[in-house]
Amino acid sequence: MAKAVLEKSQYWANYSGAFQDDLAKLMVPCDSPEGHIFINEGDRINSFLIVESGTLYRTKRQSEEGTEADVPFQIDVVGPGSVTGFLHVAGASPHEEVAFATIVAGTGGARVWEVSGDDFRKMCESNSMHSLEVVKVLSNRLRSTTKIVRSIVDKYHDEDENGSSTKKSLIKVLCYDTTSWVKETFEPQVKAFNESGKDLMVKMDFTNDRLNAHTARFAVGYDAICLFVNDTADAGTITVLSMCGVKLIAMRCAGFDRVDIKTAKTFGISIVRVPAYSPYAVAEHAIALLMSVNRRIPAASTRVKMADFTLDSSLLGMDIHGKTVGVMGTGQIGQILCRIITGFGANLLAYDVFESDAVKNMGGKYVTQEEIYKNCDVIFLMMPLLPATKHTINTSVLPLLKKGVILINTSRGGLIDTSALVTGLQSDIIGGCGLDVYENEGDYFFQDWSGKAIIDSTLTALLGNNRVVMTAHQAFFTREAIDKIVSTTIENIDNFSTGLRGKDLPNSIC
Ligand SMILES: NC(=O)c1ccc[n+]([C@@H]2O[C@H](COP(=O)([O-])OP(=O)(O)OC[C@H]3O[C@@H](n4cnc5c(N)ncnc54)[C@H](O)[C@@H]3O)[C@@H](O)[C@H]2O)c1
Repeated sequence: MAKAVLEKSQYWANYSGAFQDDLAKLMVPCDSPEGHIFINEGDRINSFLIVESGTLYRTKRQSEEGTEADVPFQIDVVGPGSVTGFLHVAGASPHEEVAFATIVAGTGGARVWEVSGDDFRKMCESNSMHSLEVVKVLSNRLRSTTKIVRSIVDKYHDEDENGSSTKKSLIKVLCYDTTSWVKETFEPQVKAFNESGKDLMVKMDFTNDRLNAHTARFAVGYDAICLFVNDTADAGTITVLSMCGVKLIAMRCAGFDRVDIKTAKTFGISIVRVPAYSPYAVAEHAIALLMSVNRRIPAASTRVKMADFTLDSSLLGMDIHGKTVGVMGTGQIGQILCRIITGFGANLLAYDVFESDAVKNMGGKYVTQEEIYKNCDVIFLMMPLLPATKHTINTSVLPLLKKGVILINTSRGGLIDTSALVTGLQSDIIGGCGLDVYENEGDYFFQDWSGKAIIDSTLTALLGNNRVVMTAHQAFFTREAIDKIVSTTIENIDNFSTGLRGKDLPNSIC
């Protein structure tokens, strides 16, 4: 009897006979008169209902304008063969799940079957194939719903204001982690691109949310997403993106250390980036940090603004001329930095897994990491964050450093074990530090925390240390770099839309 209900139901039609047999054993019949309330909004819920006949109404309370009272309004109707409450039993903490809506038997009453969440979970735990079936069926439902949403959105956008087809192909992009500069710079350039007579129309929407496993679902109906340095596209997130129909991740930065490339490849999602926007911007900012730390510019400026024009040893710096400066990572940014350093008249030591003739021709000498640590008065970290470079500066490096060294990091926070850095500063091994990046910056950077308490004690240790000068990932932030970021991102999206993939797609990672 119970199995017959499942067999007739469109909702359960895609499950195997074995699954239906086991589920039928858990179903408890329940006849309900008209108006019977199965569950109240906000009540604990640990079962789901399968409707055999009649209808159930799902209602939600809403406060009526001008009154104190909550008035229920109907959200939807659950008809024969359908299910309500099913997702509640899939929750991680089932006993804490509360009903989102009130469920009431409709006109003429309803015959429903109740399935206990605990029993259903036990059934799935005892047979892993059952769990996989649930995942498969729900995923297919999500995918087909996505397709419907996508086709509706496509149709909407393919028609211009007069209702005629534009004949242009359309690519819809959701831009995550949007701060004001992103919208202000992307919008006019996207508009100019769309008016340039190309066959492609780019529709870019913006969200302030950062990408993570929860916000990935906002991408439903989008072909592409545009990400920045602190968006996380790990395996779980990419799985959701794939289900949402996303086919392209367009990084509006060079680094891609928060993107799981392997999973993206598995799901056939292409990743493009902006490999170089302005290496000058970053190299020049690194120098700005060095000079700020060395010549105590923030402290001096604050003092002068307070009309205190005195000088004392706390403002004492050193000439860079004649000092030994180490550059670890001599790629695009590192090489520009090397050129600037030679302008100071400093001795240049370099470390990289690939040696550059250009650096050697400027008078730079490649040495081991240990020689950099031992000899350098200033060390710049300019390599990408990779498993091999993570925590390059750590506690075991501290005893190898020249006493009083100034450390500058504009690359990625993870290159430094920040607790070791704090220890190095407190023990005077490290004389000063300029940071544009921080290991756990994802929780704080690009947000206003001035009115809130920062609970990250390592970050507060850095902020409270007057030998540390810190900026919030702004080394790239020049007009030239931003223009390049935006134009290259649009170009990358345009290239993708022509069907180029893999190595043929310029600036692609996969
Ligand atoms: N703060 C910012 O605003 C900002 C902006 C752009 C880039 N960045 C960071 O700067 C980094 C460097 O950028 P780039 O354009 O010069 O990159 P790049 O790829 O041109 O150069 C990186 C260099 O690091 C070297 N390298 C790789 N593995 C190494 C290792 N294990 N040890 C030593 N060297 C190693 C490479 O050989 C290469 O020469 C980027 O990875 C990015 O994380 C920061």
